[in-house]
Amino acid sequence: MNLWHDFLTNTGRRVDKWTHYFPIYEKHLKDWRNRTLTFLEIGVAKGGSLQMWKRYFGPMATIVGIDINPHCKEVEEDLIHVRIGDQSDSKFLAGLIDEFGQFDIVIDDGSHKMEHIRKTFDFLYPTISKNGIYIIEDLHTAYWEKYGGGIEKADSFINICKKFIDELNADHSHGTVQQTFITKHTFGISIYDSVIVFERGTIPLKKVVRSGTDPKLRSFKRAVKKVKNALT
Ligand SMILES: C[S@@+](CC[C@H](N)C(=O)[O-])C[C@H]1O[C@@H](n2cnc3c(N)ncnc32)[C@H](O)[C@@H]1O
Repeated sequence: MNLWHDFLTNTGRRVDKWTHYFPIYEKHLKDWRNRTLTFLEIGVAKGGSLQMWKRYFGPMATIVGIDINPHCKEVEEDLIHVRIGDQSDSKFLAGLIDEFGQFDIVIDDGSHKMEHIRKTFDFLYPTISKNGIYIIEDLHTAYWEKYGGGIEKADSFINICKKFIDELNADHSHGTVQQTFITKHTFGISIYDSVIVFERGTIPLKKVVRSGTDPKLRSFKRAVKKVKNALT
C-alpha cells in the first residue's frame, strides 16, 4: 500500500494534507507499518487523516487523535481514539500517556501556532519511545505573524530548530554549545518545506573510524623511511 494512492482513492472522511508531505511520510514511517505501535496525531478536524493512518499502519496500531473541538469526538471508531483538549496543556498530554502508554510516532498538525508547537514539543518529545518519530507539519506558519512567526522572531519554531541543529552537533563544538536532550537523544533532524522530522535515537559510538588500506600513503611512508635511513 502506498499512502499517496490511499489518499487519492479515499472514500472515507475528509483528509487535509499538502502533496509534498506524502513522500516525507513514506520515507520516515514506512518501516513502522504492520507493527505494534502507538500513534498520536494532534489535530483531528474531519477525522479523515486518522482513518488514513489506521489503514496505513495496519491492525496492530493504536491510533489516537486530539483536538480542541469537542465535535471531533464523533469520528471515533474501532482502533481510533479521540480525546478532546488543548495541545499546549501538559496535564492533558500527560493524561494521554497514562491512558495509552508511550507514543512511538507523533504528528503535530494542530493549531500551528509557535507557542503551542514549542510547548507540545518540549513536553512530548522526551516522552516518545527511544527510536520514535516526531513530525511537525505546516511550519510555513513559522514565517507568519498571525501564528507568532516571523523571520526575525527568535521563538519561531524554524529559528528554534536552527539552535537544535547546533545542539545536535554540540559534541564537536569545543564547548561552545552545551549538550542538551537533543544532543543525547536525537539521531537526526530532517528539514523539509514546511515539515520538520525528529528521529529519536542515541549514538553510543561517536568517533572517526577507518578501514582498508591506502597504497599512496604506504609508498609515501616508505619514501620517508628511505630518506631518513639515507641521512643517518
Ligand atoms: C489542520 S486541522 C487538522 C487536519 C487533520 N490532521 C487532517 O490531516 O485532515 C487542525 C486542527 O487542529 C485543531 N486545533 C486547533 N488548536 C488546537 C489546540 N490548541 N489543541 C488541539 N487541537 C487544536 C483544530 O480544531 C483543527 O481541527
